[in-house]
Amino acid sequence: MCRASLALIALCGLVPFSGLTASASSPAYGPDDIIPVPAEYEVSSGTFSLDGDKTFFLTGDKTFGSDGRAAVVEALKSFSSGMKESDNARSADIVVVVDGKKFMKKTSLEHALLDNEALLGEAYRLEVAPDRITIHAADAAGAFYALQSLVQMAGPDGSSDIQCCVIDDVPCFEYRGLHFDVSRHFRSKEFLMKQMDAMAMLKLNRMHLHLTDGAGWRIEIEGYPRLTDFAAWRPYRKWSDWWVSDRHYCEKDAAGAYGGYYTREDIEEILAYAAQRHIEVIPEIEMPGHSEEVIAAYPELSCSGKQYGSGDFCPGKEATFTFLEDVLSEVMELFPSEYIHIGGDEASKSAWKTCPDCCRRMQEEGLEDVDELQSYLIHRIEEFVNSKGRKIIGWDEILQGGLAPNATVMSWRGTEGGVKAMKSGHDVIMTPGAYCYLDYTQDAPFKEPISIGGYISLAKTYSYEPAEEGLTETELSHLLGVQGNLWAEYIPEDSHAEYMYYPRAFAIAETGWSRPEDKNYEDFHRRALSLSEHLAGLGYTTFDLKTEYGDRKESLVPLKHLAVGCDVDYSSPINSQYPASGETSLVDGILGGWTYGDKKWQGFLTDFDVTVDLGSVQPVHYIGATFMQVASAWVYLPEKVDIYVSEDGSDFRLAGSVWRDLSSKADGLFFKQYGIICNESARYVRIHADNSGIEGAWLFTDEIVVN
Ligand code: ACM
Ligand code: ZN
Repeated sequence: MCRASLALIALCGLVPFSGLTASASSPAYGPDDIIPVPAEYEVSSGTFSLDGDKTFFLTGDKTFGSDGRAAVVEALKSFSSGMKESDNARSADIVVVVDGKKFMKKTSLEHALLDNEALLGEAYRLEVAPDRITIHAADAAGAFYALQSLVQMAGPDGSSDIQCCVIDDVPCFEYRGLHFDVSRHFRSKEFLMKQMDAMAMLKLNRMHLHLTDGAGWRIEIEGYPRLTDFAAWRPYRKWSDWWVSDRHYCEKDAAGAYGGYYTREDIEEILAYAAQRHIEVIPEIEMPGHSEEVIAAYPELSCSGKQYGSGDFCPGKEATFTFLEDVLSEVMELFPSEYIHIGGDEASKSAWKTCPDCCRRMQEEGLEDVDELQSYLIHRIEEFVNSKGRKIIGWDEILQGGLAPNATVMSWRGTEGGVKAMKSGHDVIMTPGAYCYLDYTQDAPFKEPISIGGYISLAKTYSYEPAEEGLTETELSHLLGVQGNLWAEYIPEDSHAEYMYYPRAFAIAETGWSRPEDKNYEDFHRRALSLSEHLAGLGYTTFDLKTEYGDRKESLVPLKHLAVGCDVDYSSPINSQYPASGETSLVDGILGGWTYGDKKWQGFLTDFDVTVDLGSVQPVHYIGATFMQVASAWVYLPEKVDIYVSEDGSDFRLAGSVWRDLSSKADGLFFKQYGIICNESARYVRIHADNSGIEGAWLFTDEIVVN
């Protein structure tokens, strides 16, 4: 038997399968193998064998609607293709009871469900005995998730005996999402469906589809054909080639046109597939920024009225609102989701300052600045979306200029935006970049594909706890959940995207579903190894956890040198976004890791000019500092570093200079030690690094080392 194929069927439920044969030597898998770890479980002796054809019996009250029933039947049949429906509960091998609130009496988790009834529909009780499996749930979703637990307990080969146990399970958060950037690289509907199978297995229930962005528009809108005849296509496959060129688009039928879009029929298919897996697909239509492709197709929607100028809509023009409302109307016709994501991030707003339409709007509406103008646009759009019975989600920049009254905030630039929103009574989804951005490399950059920069290991993603201390219960009641984001600038291939999702999506799933007190990285790691193998057997490309290298070794052991703990005088300002641990950071003996975002690297947007006072005149034989380059993130090595020494702090002499020897165009992560060997007598050491001179370029260094 193809061991993987059983599991594949278990997930997809589409391919017929015959012949279940459990190997005598295969281990039994139990509740302690499941990701996300269940809320409560007890293991007992004995196993349930998947051998032979099994029968199931479904029963339930009216909460178990026909769609829900069909989805459970489908999941059951896919669990084992020999599975037949029985007309009799007594003789069935698997009994599923879905009976709304009556379920409360069955579960030991009544307290958790009473605290948050929104979670009731996803809760389940799963009892595995040697001769029978019984599932109780309030709703079809809970029964479906019980089956997903069974799928995992059937082991990586899909045919292992299942450990007898009782599981009482309920999610911690109602929103457990994964984000798909189909703008930078269009992905087929088949790809999305395949990821939904894995999401379902992980009990992830929201697919955030980033359908529009500067790199391409991805959804057919009947009223605006240029969006898909033109704005969905570019003359370069590689995003970075397109980005460094003129960032133009091309006609759909131009030679070499690269892109794509979902037709209405595609979307309907995706949505039907999602519904069967209890996944809500949330469409994102970006505004007012990240809209270069729309402006290229309909330049009249920008401030200048010209193609290839600003990527922001003009909020001064009524035409912008007509367009956005038309598009949103079509999107809401297609997508039944409670939420519509309206973007809101990273608008430049610069053209608005001088645009006569924007200025008039600001004057008429009494708006103080461009932040308030953005807020005006978001408010209007929210009103429109609310009028159709839906709610908006926006990236945390929608806080700027005042939050729209019913908006849900997706906090990505850290957690501050989310915390602020919760404190003001708004719902929040946490997806802070430092933990949840799955486009960052997950292992040592020397062994990983080029990424956008940053380093987020599985352990780092797993360590995230969305319910921050210091928030009240009322504030925390606005925390809907958590999401992992995968921006795709550097991820053209589907297999590469999967590699970035898995296993870090496992960590997102466990953070979203399991209680913080039940999380344990060592145990999770064991389960993640097994589930990675399971997914690999199903045809997913996963990161190989077994060969993980881990953090930059130099960052793990404090360094001893002459400057540790000495006074530091900055002639150049530390950027407030990247202060590391403050003014002592450059002489704390702690070296940075693989990413400038780890709070060990200090960032500068100017030249770098720092003097260290060693406390007394002493022999000095080495002076240096390491800088990094990640061109994709605008982080560049300095052009030149001059190193000076002084005995009195006023009379400095040049001890040596080091020049850059790497192109600023080099892709990837580079560290360069700008150091000199010398034979000096000095109390003061000054390092001056010339910023690369590239507009907006960052300098990052972690430590001034003197020996
Ligand atoms: C974002 O990463 N710009 C939301
Ligand atoms: Zn304007």
